Amino acid sequence: MSPYIIAPSILAADFARLGEDTARAIDAGADMVHFDVMDHHYVPNLSFGSMVCKALRDYGITVPIDTHLMTTPVDDLICNFAKAGSTYISFHPEATHHPDRSIQLIRDCGCKPGIVLNPATPIDWLSYIIDKVDMILVMSVNPGFGGQSLIPSTYDKIREIRQIIDKSGQQIRLEVDGGITEHNIGSLAEAGADTFVSGSAIFNSDDYSATIKKMRQELADIK
Ligand code: DX5
Ligand code: ZN
Repeated sequence: MSPYIIAPSILAADFARLGEDTARAIDAGADMVHFDVMDHHYVPNLSFGSMVCKALRDYGITVPIDTHLMTTPVDDLICNFAKAGSTYISFHPEATHHPDRSIQLIRDCGCKPGIVLNPATPIDWLSYIIDKVDMILVMSVNPGFGGQSLIPSTYDKIREIRQIIDKSGQQIRLEVDGGITEHNIGSLAEAGADTFVSGSAIFNSDDYSATIKKMRQELADIK
């Protein structure tokens, strides 16, 4: 089984046919749904909430749902998303007063906690929580919008975090989010990422299956 996960961001899906379009991406070979929650407060955009997450579960989406909270505060939303069917719940540590408490809350609600680092957020945030998270999500764009270009400093950050994860000996996924295409997924994997969020590159393509297949071919060449 591939160690890599491809997670389409449904921010770029057809909102008028969300269940159908999400199912199409999964049928095309995606592993996980990336669910971008924007509150027009922490980020300058507004997307969707836990009712939409539940609607996808009710529609029949069974793959893991990777909820990315771009909200402040964070804690009030955690249990709603857990009840709605989220698998992972990730948040931005500077968006909550007590990141350690938010991690614990996610765990207590039965989900897998993730911590998200923006392009300008230092890796130091990981120091005292690395043993408590199941995922580290590196933003390769500033959060708030799909369709942006990947910021090149992401590669060094991924390399550094990969070393930290390996040294920790923990099972932690290293996810990257923003501007990912079949052209850069291979080099991101080489840098150490194992989980890839991709919105526009998948949903704006004519053939989701062909796009995901190209991504997998790039990943297959990594040693
Ligand atoms: C940005 C979101 C991303 C974004 C990815 O705030 O967290 O998940 O939708 O979309 P693309 O792949 O279009 O950059
Ligand atoms: Zn995201």
